[in-house]
Amino acid sequence: MGVADRPIGMFDSGFGGLTVARALIDLLPGEDLIYLGDTARYPYGPRSLQEVAGFAHQIAEELVDRRGVKLLVVACNTAAAAALESLRDRFPVPVIGVIDPGVRALVQASESGRVAVIGTVGTIGSGAYQRAVAEAAEDLDLVALPCPGFVEFVERGEFDSEQVHVLAQRLLAPALEAKVDALLLGCTHYPYLARTLGDVMGRDVVLVSSADETAFEVRRVMLDSGLVRDRSGGGSATFVTTGDVNWFEELGRRLLGPELDRAEQVRWP
Ligand code: DGL
Repeated sequence: MGVADRPIGMFDSGFGGLTVARALIDLLPGEDLIYLGDTARYPYGPRSLQEVAGFAHQIAEELVDRRGVKLLVVACNTAAAAALESLRDRFPVPVIGVIDPGVRALVQASESGRVAVIGTVGTIGSGAYQRAVAEAAEDLDLVALPCPGFVEFVERGEFDSEQVHVLAQRLLAPALEAKVDALLLGCTHYPYLARTLGDVMGRDVVLVSSADETAFEVRRVMLDSGLVRDRSGGGSATFVTTGDVNWFEELGRRLLGPELDRAEQVRWP
């Protein structure tokens, strides 16, 4: 089997990376995909960046060293903030994160130059978005807001309850005050809260997700490195969880769609 015939590997702390998986399956239907959701150890957001980096390397060993993926997508902002560079140093495959693609989409979406990014405490505290925005467009006015609690709602399958609405109103208030015209969802879980976030921000604010832009980046890197599989459809998707398989299949299917018909469990050696 040639390198191009190997699967694409991707991971997240849980279900959030499925937003990126959906975009990849739609854009590259001929590719095989392996998705690992570390649901046994979610949420990553409140943990130290060092601990999250340790998890990311352990998962990358599973996907790259044991399962032989040809490219790795870090479909989690917190893990990308903690470990993108060290993963690139350690593993011999292209490693793609979600932060730079998201920022590119944000820059394109804003007309006023006043923007906000929301993410986990770990992601926002790392300064990764503040640095990426400053590099991409010096004149953007950025409000960066940690949103503790959002990920837990998504992992429970609760997307537009009264409670999540009240929390969103409180956490997003500074972005409303700053009159931003684009809000970057800097956590791959957040697109599942889009209805609530859209209600709170109002219809004039564009919600920007990194999922599509990340899928385009994956395709571009694969084209540049000769890694695109030579067929137009029929790719498979394999889903792996470190936590409860039944829950992963049930909520995962609701979130991703019918491709997630079964999941397997991985236990670390
Ligand atoms: N989906 C993740 C992110 O993009 C993870 C969040 C978490 O586990 O706290 O940051």
